[in-house]
Amino acid sequence: MSAILMTGVGAYLPERVVSNDELATFVETDDAWIKQRTGIAQRHMVAEDELTSDLAVAAAQDALSHAGLTAKDIDMIILATTTPDDTFPSAASVVQRKLEAGSAFAFDVQAVCAGFVYALSVAHSMIAANMGKKALVIGAESFTKLLDWEDRTTCVLFGDGAGAVILEADETAPQDYGILSNVLHTDGRYRDILYVDGGPSATGTTGHVRMEGKEVFRHAVEKLSSAMSEALEKADMSAEQVDWLVPHQANIRIIDGMQKKLGLPADRVVRTVSQHANTSAASIPLALNEAVKDGRIQSGHVLALEAIGGGLSWGASLVRFGRP
Ligand code: UT7
Repeated sequence: MSAILMTGVGAYLPERVVSNDELATFVETDDAWIKQRTGIAQRHMVAEDELTSDLAVAAAQDALSHAGLTAKDIDMIILATTTPDDTFPSAASVVQRKLEAGSAFAFDVQAVCAGFVYALSVAHSMIAANMGKKALVIGAESFTKLLDWEDRTTCVLFGDGAGAVILEADETAPQDYGILSNVLHTDGRYRDILYVDGGPSATGTTGHVRMEGKEVFRHAVEKLSSAMSEALEKADMSAEQVDWLVPHQANIRIIDGMQKKLGLPADRVVRTVSQHANTSAASIPLALNEAVKDGRIQSGHVLALEAIGGGLSWGASLVRFGRP
């Protein structure tokens, strides 16, 4: 079987930056509370005329150029998003048109904040099943569109952005390169602790995010560390072999908890939550892009990716990054 390599990363953040202090001018909150409870200092926010597919296209172009490919080379586009432009068609099909990626089939994956690990796993499985050799996997969100700006317990936590990776089947690469293992879990009984109170079937509206933050927090470290243990076991690896934890960026306290559970040194964790806030499905590829482009993550490094969100849905992946 071919190794399935991660050969390119890319990202895009909307131009507008909203600091905690700016938020505090229209929400009853303050910079100190947000920083202390979450680690967030600022978030990016889409412009009025900017769509999720626009963010996704910009991140995809960056990833394609990083991998030395063009859109014509891509066989499948899998886009993790909770905030597509329209209820249908999929945002992925819009991206396919905008990129002129005529050979690619395209669809969205909906697993909210866990969307990127789900999409990565789906792309990996489809390449392994011979449905194509090159995949563009994107996480893109205009999550601020789902926020209730009168609910300070949620609206300070999220931001907008997009990240993308390229996966390529390579028959000559060693088997210990590329995607090494994926683990996915769902427990639908926890729907009520993190959901949106609207939808095409339920209300005919988009709805707003509702969250019992403390409850979600309680599940996060326990479920993520257990999924990571499974992913390590599946890949026949130990935590000491992990070079970088690239976690979903929801809360610095969850990230630090995971770092301690894994026993990794603090400087082996990629943290972007202070600058991006929680960008849902975009947060892992945004963090990945930053650490690859600033030279921390290099070819051959083992990455541990993990995320949890609405569903509850969660998962973990291990990847040896780059080309041999
Ligand atoms: O990606 C999806 C996964 N989501 C997550 O991972 C989120 C997980 N949860 C969390 O990150 C945390 O639970 C939060 C950051 C959401 C909340 O932190 P917390 O330490 O659990 O705070 P809390 O909800 O217990 O609130 C403590 C206090 C409350 O006041 P009282 O009742 O103690 O007087 C809140 O009303 O903080 C108050 N509060 C705020 N104060 C200022 C809540 N939101 C704010 C705010 N600004 N924005």
